[in-house]
Amino acid sequence: MSPASLPSISVVGVGHVGLVTAACFASLGFTVTCVDSNHDKIDLLNKGGIPIYEPGLPELVRKGIQRKRLVFVKDIVRSIKTSDVIFICVGTPPKPSGEADLEAVQKVASQIAQGINSYKLIVEKSTVPVYTGELIKSIVSGYVNEDLFDVASNPEFLREGKAIYDFIHPDRIVIGVESERAEQLLKKVYARIKAPIVVTNVKTAEIIKHVSNSFLALKVSFINAVARVSDGLGTDIQKISEGVGLDTRIGRAFLNAGIGFGGSCFPKDLDAFYHIARMAHYDFALLNEVKTINITQRDYFLSKIRPVLGTFQDKKIALLGLSFKPGTDDIRDAPSLVIIDRLLAEGAKVKVYDPVSMEKVKIVLGKDVEYGSDPYDTIRNTECLCLVTEWEMFKRLNLSKVKKSMRKPYCIADGRNVFDPDEVTGMGFKYVGIGRS
Ligand code: UGA
Repeated sequence: MSPASLPSISVVGVGHVGLVTAACFASLGFTVTCVDSNHDKIDLLNKGGIPIYEPGLPELVRKGIQRKRLVFVKDIVRSIKTSDVIFICVGTPPKPSGEADLEAVQKVASQIAQGINSYKLIVEKSTVPVYTGELIKSIVSGYVNEDLFDVASNPEFLREGKAIYDFIHPDRIVIGVESERAEQLLKKVYARIKAPIVVTNVKTAEIIKHVSNSFLALKVSFINAVARVSDGLGTDIQKISEGVGLDTRIGRAFLNAGIGFGGSCFPKDLDAFYHIARMAHYDFALLNEVKTINITQRDYFLSKIRPVLGTFQDKKIALLGLSFKPGTDDIRDAPSLVIIDRLLAEGAKVKVYDPVSMEKVKIVLGKDVEYGSDPYDTIRNTECLCLVTEWEMFKRLNLSKVKKSMRKPYCIADGRNVFDPDEVTGMGFKYVGIGRS
């Protein structure tokens, strides 16, 4: 397909999902116009800066700009006028009740409506509750005739840190449409990506996203609950995950026991899905249990370290890994922050290190903790190395060097089960893992 025959795309909202989507579509040959109500972000992008951390994204954005396939503008109405397909990628933060806040989506829908001068396909990509498609349709049809647009749902399944790979090599593409025209147009947009396409109606596509994230969170909490049983029985959670996960009906992914999930997606989507279920008159109590296991997992981890140190009072602890998972600088709902909070409350002295998220953490924690310049500097003179996020560099630590610079009782608290318990205890460390006592 020549670029001229490709539909032109607008992406509204250049957060993580929007910018990755735009840069990837540009790399596939589309002309993509990006717009955001935060004009500072647009200015930054136009100067070659990137407002978020995502491996590979700066290079992809730069290439898109150089090839004139990626454009950042401030005028949403103008960008809509020149586009065939518009992806809504704005934030849907949780309200205090846990419900998703759709204010930004509603605002964008009315702005898009004002730019409609010919047929447009409006696609929601942000994670939104069921019925958001209907809401967008009712807003836009307040301005223009329904023949001039369709609303579709095309949920994203992009992991932070691996978002570009996930976009180009998805397990599946979900398309929720209400017309043949919308289906054909979205299929054209994804024609260059090899993946099974699930075509359904808008509402069903919307719910698939919530079900996917909730199920993945369920798997993590399930294995973390099993890990607690495993600790009580003296069995090995790593082997349990392997033995169970090799069953293709279950799958090995998301069965890594640890200190639980964080980030902006799982906790938020569990709450949002709970509210959606309530709207459908179902009390989805299982989702609350998934959350409870996750939240208490951090305290469970600390309850295993405490007896090794006797008390946390005045103990020096090196905490490695601050982002909610490796490959991102995102500290939203990061387990590290909860653990640090608890340690400080019990009188511990905490020194922290993370390869990418230190600046973000400094804003939140200020002088409450000390900041290491590298892992070894962080560990020096501490009684406990507490591994919270499994960055590769931590897995490759020289443990003899670590042991020499630490103090008794040489505790390794391994919140992600990355070290070999036999190896580290053989070296004279006291080892605390999850589900492998
Ligand atoms: C998640 C989904 O995986 C994406 O498909 C989805 O598009 C995205 O949310 C979203 O809704 O935007 P993400 O939050 O980036 O992506 O992170 P994941 O890689 O899924 O990990 C989530 C959390 O689970 C992390 O804290 C991770 O450490 C934890 N986890 C994961 C475990 O504790 N154990 C595991 O076995 C796997």
